[in-house]
Amino acid sequence: STAPVTVTVTGAAGQIGYALLFRIASGQLLGADVPVKLNLLEIPQGMKAAQGTAMELDDCAFPLLAGVDIFDDPTAAFDGVNIGLLVGARPRGPGMERGDLLAANGGIFGPQGQAINAGAADDVRVLVVGNPANTNALIASAHAPDVPADRFNAMMRLDHNRALAQLAAKTGTPVSEIRKVAIWGNHSAKQYPDIAHATIGGRPAVDAVGDEAWVSDEFVPTVAKRGAAIIEARGASSAASAANAAIEHVHDWVNGTPEGDWTSVALPSDGSYGVPEGLVSSFPAVSKDGAWEIVQGLDIAAGAREKIDASVAELAEERDAVRELGLL
Ligand code: NAI
Repeated sequence: STAPVTVTVTGAAGQIGYALLFRIASGQLLGADVPVKLNLLEIPQGMKAAQGTAMELDDCAFPLLAGVDIFDDPTAAFDGVNIGLLVGARPRGPGMERGDLLAANGGIFGPQGQAINAGAADDVRVLVVGNPANTNALIASAHAPDVPADRFNAMMRLDHNRALAQLAAKTGTPVSEIRKVAIWGNHSAKQYPDIAHATIGGRPAVDAVGDEAWVSDEFVPTVAKRGAAIIEARGASSAASAANAAIEHVHDWVNGTPEGDWTSVALPSDGSYGVPEGLVSSFPAVSKDGAWEIVQGLDIAAGAREKIDASVAELAEERDAVRELGLL
């Protein structure tokens, strides 16, 4: 039998945590033959609820679950971590300015980055889910100078999956027939969901949809604002779908993306497509041998260029704001 992989989940007592932990422990994150050890990180007020979740994990008697430990100290929680899922974050409170939000999250993701730097395993991979996810990933990475920056991702997979679902519904095609959708930029309402290179049932998606106005006036805003629509309908923010996206992101990162397709991942830019180096921005990407490669050479039409630039400009503003706050 192989040694268990240590997976640290922050915000473990939250609603995404509750949807995520059982799927990790059942083998869906890494594969049905990989034992996992779970480290749950919470703030002191969340410890009791995290203990309750740990009791339920015990009660599932998962054959792959090698143990569960609960922490309120990041240094202990990230000791030996192989996979870090950074879910816990400070939500925007009423009347909270963006600067306050960035500062509060800097106070979370800076120390967590330091803890990862101090104790993580050499192969550590970190996925930031907690918002503002892209900039939180940038902050965590900046505090982990000994960990290669490309080990820090922010999650765009939920946006990617939302785009697949909208296209499937519009065209009456199974999701499994849709390939090469891309989300560009920031995980925010300014993201750019792009079907220019996508195929549906082997045809160019643009032809299969056959409705340019729908793409620009319905598809793009529906995907970008889906989070708000879920809150409106459910009375709570996306949780199971966010957890599902985190599972799929890490699974593909470790095990590879399927041949002939790609996914959307926010990772530190290497300057591809004119995105300033270092910004944690979403690109179409494939995973090979455990690492992401940005898909190169796609033609970007003028309209798409404008939308990508606007989203990237938002990321640059966030970076400048956290720099001014001394968080980078
Ligand atoms: P939640 O409020 O139910 O849970 C958050 C948990 O994090 C709480 O239990 C809280 O005690 C904990 N927490 C706060 N600070 C912490 C710290 N410093 N260390 C450890 N734990 C800490 O929130 P929910 O619904 O689980 O969402 C979590 C985050 O995920 C939010 O920031 C949300 O905006 C984000 N999100 C991101 C998505 C994406 O696509 N990237 C999609 C959906 C949500």
